[in-house]
Amino acid sequence: MPKNSYKIVVLPGDGIGRDVTPEGVKVLNAVAERFGLNFEFEEFACGGQYYLETGREWDEGAFDACKDADAIFLGAVGWPGANLPDGNIAGAGIIFGLRFGLDLYANVRPTKLYPGIKHKVHDNNKLVWDPNLVDLVTVRENTEGLYSPLRGRLSRGGTSELAVDTRVITRKGAERVIEYAFKLAERRDRGAPKDGVKRVTCIDKSNVLEGCRLFRSIYDEVAERHPAIEKDYAYIDAYTQWLMRNPDWFNVSVTTNMLGDIASDLSAVLGGSLGMAPSANVGDNHAFFEPVHGSAPKHAGQDKANPMAMVLSGAMLLDYIGDKFSDPKAVEASKAVEVAVEAVILEGKTLTYDLGGNSKCSDVGTAIAEKIRSP
Ligand code: NAI
Ligand code: MG
Repeated sequence: MPKNSYKIVVLPGDGIGRDVTPEGVKVLNAVAERFGLNFEFEEFACGGQYYLETGREWDEGAFDACKDADAIFLGAVGWPGANLPDGNIAGAGIIFGLRFGLDLYANVRPTKLYPGIKHKVHDNNKLVWDPNLVDLVTVRENTEGLYSPLRGRLSRGGTSELAVDTRVITRKGAERVIEYAFKLAERRDRGAPKDGVKRVTCIDKSNVLEGCRLFRSIYDEVAERHPAIEKDYAYIDAYTQWLMRNPDWFNVSVTTNMLGDIASDLSAVLGGSLGMAPSANVGDNHAFFEPVHGSAPKHAGQDKANPMAMVLSGAMLLDYIGDKFSDPKAVEASKAVEVAVEAVILEGKTLTYDLGGNSKCSDVGTAIAEKIRSP
């Protein structure tokens, strides 16, 4: 059932997170106006800079507000010199606190090369890079794998002698993220750019690792329940080169936590800029949306970062709300955001430095919002 109003917690965080987040909110306000949606925003300061000022990563009450919200919208966290006494970066507690605390098991990272974006890698080689070749989603397991907290260090006589990180793959963890990937492939308008086929690629290292063998066998079980989706397998090492050579083969890919962390950053290159890569962290009851990039301290506070990754994370937020609450207005709004981003890029007048322009972050946000108001 659609709601009259959706509660969104906004966490700008650090660095360019503080620059791009208001632009994401600006665009959400523009689509809300056009499609008759209502958002109630609640903002909390947080992250490394906040930790240096206050000694806290975020305020008491922020996590509870996230738990109550319909969706969470996060800029980026991490600031030079802002470290917790245990050595972890201040702000990581927010990202991991939300992922583990709200059980957000699917990290969803779409990569799309928009028409009009010059591609760094291939431009240098003077190859023509067709934007229609890149439209894929990496779904990464987000609550176990190598990032489970089963790790430690053995020190003897004050010398670190040994460090262990334990990789955990469970049936529950694998099954739910693989199921998510198949459902996503069913829900997306398009299949792979190459042949239009809806396919889910299982990325693993099952020729060596036991956890990957379990992951792949559960992939086979889940695939049985989705006969309309094509099965596909890739070992992570081979996948990295196929992804660069034949990105048009891929539609939705699913993998374990750290393999997905690496594979999705690599695929973000295919979108032309880290400033174009959005993401979602989704569980059964909660979700947060954030750009893939970090706080880019050297560009912070200069109104120059590309806000499109944040804006497109907002499009994912709208799509999530549309799906979860069966709200067709939110689904339409999500598509309108993508259309507006595409139009601003094709026009080529209001682009940030990473896309070859010199516009301000806030001007790009305004240009997208205006396209939404008068398409
Ligand atoms: P980063 O993603 O912040 O920046 C790397 C480089 O990419 C920047 O120097 C810039 O040239 C470019 N870039 C990134 N976003 C851009 C945008 N929107 N527009 C234009 N150019 C952009 O990665 P870095 O420098 O490794 O990390 C900086 C801080 O961010 C660290 O503290 C790190 O821990 C944190 N971080 C936080 C993440 C999160 O909040 N989820 C993710 C990655 C890093
Ligand atoms: Mg990463």
